[in-house]
Amino acid sequence: MARQEPGAVTRITSIGAGPIGGGWSTYFLAKGYDVTAYVHDVSEEAPLRALIDNAWPAMEELGLAEGASRDRLTCTTDLAAAVAEAEFVQESVPEILDLKQAIYAQLGDLVPEDVVIASSTSGLMMTDIQAKCSTPERTVTGHPFNPPYLMPLVEVVGGEKTAPETVAWAGAFYEHAGKAPLMMTAEVPGFVATRLQEAIWREALHMVNAGEATPEQIDTAIVNGPGPRWAIMGPCMVYHVGGGEGGMEYCLEQFGPALKFPWTRLVAPELTPELRAKMVDGCDRMAGDKDFRQLTREMNDGLVAIAKALNALRASSS
Ligand SMILES: NC(=O)c1ccc[n+]([C@@H]2O[C@H](COP(=O)([O-])OP(=O)(O)OC[C@H]3O[C@@H](n4cnc5c(N)ncnc54)[C@H](O)[C@@H]3O)[C@@H](O)[C@H]2O)c1
Repeated sequence: MARQEPGAVTRITSIGAGPIGGGWSTYFLAKGYDVTAYVHDVSEEAPLRALIDNAWPAMEELGLAEGASRDRLTCTTDLAAAVAEAEFVQESVPEILDLKQAIYAQLGDLVPEDVVIASSTSGLMMTDIQAKCSTPERTVTGHPFNPPYLMPLVEVVGGEKTAPETVAWAGAFYEHAGKAPLMMTAEVPGFVATRLQEAIWREALHMVNAGEATPEQIDTAIVNGPGPRWAIMGPCMVYHVGGGEGGMEYCLEQFGPALKFPWTRLVAPELTPELRAKMVDGCDRMAGDKDFRQLTREMNDGLVAIAKALNALRASSS
């Protein structure tokens, strides 16, 4: 099958039934695609459908595409059958290099010629993932943010053997599907967003370890501080605006010397049993009696409210 134009794709295969594979299935169904989900074991089908049901109200709230329906989902444990009719494949199997390589070795032969295969990997290099694939030129990283059905970002980057046309096609496809692709120029560990997130994560662990802040204080600081600003502008423009008339230039001059100290202590914290316990206990206290599903709903409701507010703001200023 020749490669479809990005806007002509109608059938997608989502490989994996975890939060990410399930999240992608939800997103593509809500956007009106036919979705075939590959589940590794038949027992995964019911939890996958429950994940989609749990997320569906958020998708309805944001507006379903014409014809979108959960009935357009097919589940199978047969990888060959799962990809036979695919026009785009999004792979979301566990983050284990050997496993990804083995799957790509199979997909390289099973997926119709020229169909793009994108990996949700959050940290592995496509150059490594595609090492045992017979058709690596059509493989690419398409790293989503969790949950993929609500977060717009997808980081797109090829491996050494990926054809440039594949990267361009994937970017155009995600954009057509309503995502905000970030076309990366280099394959770097952690990509862009995860790397930034990990810097905060590392500092949070340091503070908890040193008894400087509890998990509750850290979350309060972000939710009421940088969080709301970052939904509008990223950290670079926040400083640029914060610098007043002098912009970024002024910020670097004013804060640069003071930042040298925190920058020089940014090393990985030791994950001791005590630190692990403090982090887990803090999060358990914040979760209270809410289970994973209720917390997910809470997060989804907030993300939907933010998306709606931002959509209205952009519509009124365009
Ligand atoms: N969880 C996140 O926050 C997040 C965010 C962005 C990207 N990712 C990436 O997405 C991918 C999937 O993440 P996840 O958290 O959904 O993973 P997961 O481990 O929860 O689930 C992966 C799914 O893969 C399938 N699977 C399991 N064993 C398999 C095997 N041996 N062969 C084939 N399929 C198998 C199963 O259907 C399983 O549900 C990973 O590469 C991860 O790094 C995760």
